[in-house]
Amino acid sequence: MKFFADTSDLDAIADLADLGMLDGVTTNPSIIAKSGKDFIPLIQEICKICPDAPVSAEVASTDFEIMMKEGDKLAAIADNIAVKVPLTEAGLKVCKNLSNNGTMVNVTLCFSPLQALLAAKAGAAFISPFVGRLDDIGLTGMDLIAEILNIYDNYPEFHTEVLVASVRHPQHIRESALLGADVVTCPPDVIKKLYKHPLTDNGLAGFVADWKKTGQSIL
Ligand code: G3P
Repeated sequence: MKFFADTSDLDAIADLADLGMLDGVTTNPSIIAKSGKDFIPLIQEICKICPDAPVSAEVASTDFEIMMKEGDKLAAIADNIAVKVPLTEAGLKVCKNLSNNGTMVNVTLCFSPLQALLAAKAGAAFISPFVGRLDDIGLTGMDLIAEILNIYDNYPEFHTEVLVASVRHPQHIRESALLGADVVTCPPDVIKKLYKHPLTDNGLAGFVADWKKTGQSIL
């Protein structure tokens, strides 16, 4: 399973890279707006931190012609850019055009298996189903992931990776891993929660205390 950081925070991205838990980065217009920084330079900085990992940068327009121009500009930033487009008719057309030209495309705002089917047919490199937002309205977001993986498994010609998005807590990651999702994109603090367990902490405290009693040193 690949871990993508769902953030534009350069320090948090670098921290995950140092931890060896960074396989990519995703952003969206809301994340960029929250950063308060200029979009293109910020994406350039992110691409420098992880030059070999996909960095998703989303188009801003909803018009096909403008989206195509935005997508071409974003793709030109770096070789590891994945252009993010919404799951709309125009977004699918942009996905088809850009992917035919060899550009990675991440199709986002996916909320149904049939949307994911269209994204795969359009040549998307990644599909981003938003599990947290489905949970928010009383549905079960992980059911969508299961259906998409089931559909994709039926068609070997599909090469779209399932990128679980709108991840809110470790259970989303656990269930994604059990289902075999390709990628989860998470706020960095959610990834950092994965190694925490009270029994680990208690056990380590016991080991440290008992070792201290030996009066020995390994070095
Ligand atoms: O990658 C999509 C993600 O940023 C959306 O998350 O919490 O706004 O649903 P959220």
